[in-house]
Amino acid sequence: MKGIILAGGTGSRLYPMTLSVSKQLLPIYDKPMIYYPLSTLIKCGIREILIISTTDDLSIFQRLLGDGSQWGCKFQYEAQDYPKGLADAFIIGDKFIGKSNVTLILGDNFFYGGNFEKEILSRKDLKGGFIFALRVSKPKRYGVIEFDENFNAVGIEEKPKNPKSSYVVPGIYCYDHTVVSKAKTLNFSDRGELEITDINKAFLNETSLEVKVLNEDTVWLDTGTVDSLMNANQFVETLQQRKGILVGSPELSAFQNNLITKETLSLLVESMTESKYGEFLKLYS
Ligand code: TTP
Repeated sequence: MKGIILAGGTGSRLYPMTLSVSKQLLPIYDKPMIYYPLSTLIKCGIREILIISTTDDLSIFQRLLGDGSQWGCKFQYEAQDYPKGLADAFIIGDKFIGKSNVTLILGDNFFYGGNFEKEILSRKDLKGGFIFALRVSKPKRYGVIEFDENFNAVGIEEKPKNPKSSYVVPGIYCYDHTVVSKAKTLNFSDRGELEITDINKAFLNETSLEVKVLNEDTVWLDTGTVDSLMNANQFVETLQQRKGILVGSPELSAFQNNLITKETLSLLVESMTESKYGEFLKLYS
């Protein structure tokens, strides 16, 4: 299983903060936003990761994350010339994906708790598509799943006016390599994007889409608005300061997944002892 982090976009809901800085570089508490989806992928057992961002921002991500070897990973980078939609990730990632399975995670999505990482780990040899469903209070903003009486997914609608359920698809999606050819045949939607919902519908039409309802204790935040960004900051502060749980740390995830040794972790911590992040990380080294 390879991974893609989609970290471009316009971030217009966060203007003026994102006029000159990529949304995914903004801090969530003590670390850049992209650390969170990155450490989620590492926890899912994924080491080969493609980072997609805008032409302007790509070099900054490269400076931040390097080639991944410091964390036992392998990172590649590709630019998206303008925001064509989430499904464009598979067209940009065509060569990178090759014949592998791939997990796409959105660069502004925050996951904590639940058991979804284990679910993804157990689908290394996936055939078809595998997505999650999570109950939310305001489904209208997302891809909404329609279920039949046996709780089988029978339809998905992007941002519907009248949602058929409260279950939506969070921003982590797993597919086999046929996702690339599916993405290439998509048409742009009315809002001018290549929609991930259309990819999911294509797998659903082939009856090869598995939808797993996530445990209620899974926390999923999309940090694209000022309020959700604030919520994420406070949530991480609570976890780290009060409960002593470090979240969104690629170093820690790499160590816990045996990608780096304790000695390497200690060396990585040494360069950051002056920061809050380094202080937290030191507790594990
Ligand atoms: P969105 O939050 O839907 O879009 P955005 O980041 O451009 O923000 P806004 O709506 O405020 O203008 O994007 C979800 C994630 O996907 C986010 O991390 C940015 C990324 N993205 C891309 O990298 N390329 C794209 O073409 C799109 C649509 C999103």
